[in-house]
Amino acid sequence: IHQRINVDKNAPPEVPYWIPYLGSAIQFSVNPIKFYDDNRKKYGDIFTYTMVGRKFTVCLGVEGNNFVFNAKTADVSAEESYTPLTTPVFGKGVVYDCPNHMLMEQKKFVKWGMSNDAFRAYVSEIEEETRTYFERWNNKVGGRADLFTAMAELIINTASRTLMGPEIRSLMDESVAQVYHDLDDGFQPINMFFQWLPLPSYARRDRAHVKMRNIFMKVIEERRANNITDKTDMLQSLMNQTYKDGTPFTDVDACHLMIALLMAGQHTSSTTATWALLFLAENPELVKELRAEQKDVLGSDDAPLNFDMMKNMTLLDNVIRETLRLRPPIIMILRKVIRPIAYTGTDYVIPKGNYIAASPIATQVDEQYYKNAMKFDAHRWDSISTEESTTEGMVDYGFGKIASGGARNPNLPFGAGRHRCIGESFAYVQLKTIISTFVRMYDVSLTEKGMPGSDFTKMFVQPVLPVDIDYKPRK
Ligand code: HEM
Repeated sequence: IHQRINVDKNAPPEVPYWIPYLGSAIQFSVNPIKFYDDNRKKYGDIFTYTMVGRKFTVCLGVEGNNFVFNAKTADVSAEESYTPLTTPVFGKGVVYDCPNHMLMEQKKFVKWGMSNDAFRAYVSEIEEETRTYFERWNNKVGGRADLFTAMAELIINTASRTLMGPEIRSLMDESVAQVYHDLDDGFQPINMFFQWLPLPSYARRDRAHVKMRNIFMKVIEERRANNITDKTDMLQSLMNQTYKDGTPFTDVDACHLMIALLMAGQHTSSTTATWALLFLAENPELVKELRAEQKDVLGSDDAPLNFDMMKNMTLLDNVIRETLRLRPPIIMILRKVIRPIAYTGTDYVIPKGNYIAASPIATQVDEQYYKNAMKFDAHRWDSISTEESTTEGMVDYGFGKIASGGARNPNLPFGAGRHRCIGESFAYVQLKTIISTFVRMYDVSLTEKGMPGSDFTKMFVQPVLPVDIDYKPRK
């Protein structure tokens, strides 16, 4: 066994490995949850493992989550961890290709585009997209369909109709879908490690980046030329921003940030929608309860959906919350250590150059916090109000107040601290509308293959493909 002797006696324990360089990459990507569990029993909540020549110090438990999410920018850097992967896809000057304070301002620009007024308009648009999409299924007798593909297409249609604007939506069935696909292919974990390889997918990715930017740029130019200012979408709100110190946020920056949002919201939401419907297929009683909730809240289960009233659909909220507890699409959050950093409450000092990793999925499936932790039970959240889980310890990092004292919350599918997700409310609006509309139209059941397993080799964890589902029209 290849066991590196710690140069620094205070460095956290290291997981031994057989294959130099590759380290534990294979065990980790087959099943990271088991990998953490096994090693946690041997080493405790904090230990280091090697993958593809890099050292990852994972910090488990609620204290570990808090340590990573609230680490100081003087000690750790998200930019240095993610930039090889994200900059070629998003483009320069935004997100991880700029100083952290600029990202904080960009997140504020994005938040402005996610107001309740915008959401009010989005709900009926998403409802219409969903209905139109699923009317293409066999709505006379039912059948079997690939749910994952359907959700991926539907999320891109709804996100482009709402956040990206009607011009982009109208191009969706033609050129943009292919460009998106090529760009997305450039968003693989492997690209974090081998950015210098002359892979054909890198050339496709780079071409796709330019095409995507040009698509957004053309829309911006047309809106400016025609003095169009009445749009509620994200693109419009990004077209009118300036940094606090007067630095302009250019149209190119706006295009790059739009690409980043497209990437951040697409897989996260489409896998969540897929898992949620799979759990519903497994729990037909819950589907009946959701329809009853729609009747309670809206007066009937075929009245138009409405943003303000949907706030009272708490069971639906809890279905999504429980889906994200068990199947969070992001299972590893990274920061690169830029100066040695002591781990709170221990003698450990994490060396410069390591990555620290948070994996909130570990606490999300921990029996200590959730009884029958591996069981899907939307009702476990009945007594916990949304208020309670989001208002504790509000902190303002510069892009609006967010729940950060809550970094010790065992359930953190959207992260915590300064890098916390700003897309959570949009994701809930989108998922709630899609699921409500879907359960009005169809009954679903699992095929003989049952529940799919998870594929952990992707950037965003997804079900093992293909995900077939049996469906029957309701009426
Ligand atoms: C950050 C999860 C949807 C935009 C994050 C982070 C997580 C996350 C875990 C923290 C990353 C880190 O700390 O390194 C999710 C999940 C989603 C979702 C589970 C859906 C179910 C969205 C959507 C958007 C979005 C729809 C935009 C429209 C962002 C942005 C960040 C972020 C801009 C900030 C990155 C940073 O500050 O470093 N998300 N997200 N997300 N997300 Fe989401």
